[in-house]
Amino acid sequence: MDQDTMETTQPDAEGTVQRAPVMSHTGLHYLVFLKRFSQLARPGSYLEIGTRDGSSLAAFDCDAICVDPNMRPKPAALNRPRTFCFQMTSDRFFHETDVRSIFPHGVDVAFLDGMHRYEFLLRDFINAERCCHPRSTIVVHDCFPAEPRLTGRVPTGGAWAGDVWKLVPILNELRKDLVLRRLDCPPTGLLVVQNVDPGSETLQRNYHAAVKRYAPTTLEEYGVERLWSEVELVKSRELVEDEELWSLTMSTY
Ligand SMILES: C[S@@+](CC[C@H](N)C(=O)[O-])C[C@H]1O[C@@H](n2cnc3c(N)ncnc32)[C@H](O)[C@@H]1O
Repeated sequence: MDQDTMETTQPDAEGTVQRAPVMSHTGLHYLVFLKRFSQLARPGSYLEIGTRDGSSLAAFDCDAICVDPNMRPKPAALNRPRTFCFQMTSDRFFHETDVRSIFPHGVDVAFLDGMHRYEFLLRDFINAERCCHPRSTIVVHDCFPAEPRLTGRVPTGGAWAGDVWKLVPILNELRKDLVLRRLDCPPTGLLVVQNVDPGSETLQRNYHAAVKRYAPTTLEEYGVERLWSEVELVKSRELVEDEELWSLTMSTY
C-alpha cells in the first residue's frame, strides 16, 4: 500500500469489520510547508489569489500581491516592506492590473487558493502563468481531496475543497509541457507546477471546451486514487530536509 494511504475499519451490516483503504495526506501541513518553501526557495515576488485572514500570505516575507474580494489580513501577514492588497475578485484584478508594473521580472511564486470552482481556478491559472517567468513555481491548493464529499460546487459549511481538482486532468491533458507534482500536505494536498510558459495560449484557446467537458464529471466517478496517481508524488518532509532532492525538483531565486 502506498505510504499516503492508510486503512480504516468499517463494520458492514452483519457487523463484520472490513478493511478499506482510505487515501490521506501524511506530510507537512500546507502552511508549514509554504513557510519552509519560502525559506528555501527565497522568492523575491509572491502572488496570492485567495488571502482570507493572511495565513498563507504570512508564510512569505518577500514583496507580495494578494487578491481577495473579502480579505481580513492579520497583522503578522503584513510583516514585509511591500504588500499590494487588491480587495476584488481575481478576474477583475487580472483584467485591471499589469502585474509587471509591480514585479517587472514576473512573479517568482504564485499560490492559487481563491474561488473553489474549477472554471475559476482554470482562469486564475491562465492569468497567473502570464505573470510568471520560465523558472516560476505555481502552487495550487485543494487539488487532491481524499473524499468526494468535500468536492461539491457549493460550500455546505465546514471543510470545502470544491471541484478545483479538475485542474489536474485538464493540465495533464492539455499541457504536457508543464511539470506537475503532488505534495502530500494536509488537508487536501498541494499541486506544484513548474516549467511554466508565460507565452502559452493553449489553455486560453481550449478554455470553453475544457470547462464544458469536465462539467458533468464528479470525483466519485473519476476516482480519488486515479486522480492522485496521475501526478508524481513528492513527500514534503523529505523535500524540505533533503538538499539534493530540493535542488533536483525546486527552483531557488
Ligand atoms: C480558502 S480561502 C483562502 C485561504 C488562504 N489562502 C490561507 O491559506 O490562509 C479562499 C478565499 O478565496 C476568496 N475568494 C472567493 N472568490 C474569489 C475570487 N473570485 N477571487 C479571489 N478570491 C476569491 C474568499 O474570499 C476566501 O477568502
